[in-house]
Amino acid sequence: MPILRSAFIALSRNRSLRGFCENSRIGVRLSSRFIAGMEVEDALRVAESVNGQGMTVTLDSLGESVNTEAEAHKAADVYHRLLDLLAERKLKANISIKLTQMGLELSPTFAETIAWNLAQHAKSTGNFVRVDMEDSNLTQLTLDIVRRLQARPEARGAIGVVIQAYLYRSQSDVEQLLADGIRIRLCKGAYKEPAEVAFPRKADVDANFVRLSHLLLESPVYNALATHDEAMVDAVKAFATEHGIAKDRFEFQMLYGIKRDLQRRLVKEGYNVRVYVPFGSEWYPYFMRRLAERPANVIFLARNFFRS
Ligand code: FDA
Repeated sequence: MPILRSAFIALSRNRSLRGFCENSRIGVRLSSRFIAGMEVEDALRVAESVNGQGMTVTLDSLGESVNTEAEAHKAADVYHRLLDLLAERKLKANISIKLTQMGLELSPTFAETIAWNLAQHAKSTGNFVRVDMEDSNLTQLTLDIVRRLQARPEARGAIGVVIQAYLYRSQSDVEQLLADGIRIRLCKGAYKEPAEVAFPRKADVDANFVRLSHLLLESPVYNALATHDEAMVDAVKAFATEHGIAKDRFEFQMLYGIKRDLQRRLVKEGYNVRVYVPFGSEWYPYFMRRLAERPANVIFLARNFFRS
């Protein structure tokens, strides 16, 4: 793993720097490149604007690893409010949640109940909950919870999950999830993982992404390919065209503020594109992972900061 990537991922877990940045005006200003804003209304405004550009949205109320059940309930309440507001305003947006924000590390049963309530609420309003994937210690727990929720008729079809192409285990996970009819978002993976569980070389991660994307595309389940990598996007497009897979059978997903030109181009070409829109005051770990993916972002941000 390149040194800079590791350094940014290590910084993403630094509590004092996190406190300092999240509370500083400069920090908030820098983060605005990747984050819709601090409030629910900021997220809804961005969702409306992205919808206006022909793309759907998934909303992430930022936060992870809560310390108390009360914090988890508070985080879930924001999502319940969002589900109601999305229905009320007829926005084309679903929600992305992290199980650690719902208390997974306090008690998996507790987090499962919170996720269950959200999935039921989503289903009742014709919406959908995507469970983001976190580090590899939580992969099995996360998949087990999603599978159990999907098995219950009140949540069936309203819950999906994320698979990371950098994990060796992902092919068998993909096969099982698709057999259960669970919608997958495929991404490369954003955490620091040891070579015992994840491909250390980017070329191998990319090759696995392409291999897994074929399974997703061939399946009758509506899946998502989440990447800004043009080589991955081209590989998906080529496979779909070659195998007669219609453009409305899957979607591309990208993060808010990243590769906006590519997002627009795909819409013009008739593909479904969903933008992942994060918002809220707990933006620091998310922001640092974006810097880890592309350390040149630091220069980019600094240049824009001093220019404005
Ligand atoms: P790669 O990192 O190879 O980048 C390809 C090109 O894209 C770069 O050369 C650059 O041009 C551009 N690019 C990529 N990242 C950039 C950045 N931060 N800033 C500017 N340009 C950038 N991960 C995870 O572990 N669990 C999850 O649940 C999710 N969820 C998720 C949802 C969505 C919608 C997306 C798009 C991504 C995720 N991820 C994720 C993150 C994912 O695992 C991965 O870290 C990033 O998407 C970067 O990988 P790429 O596929 O973009 O390729």
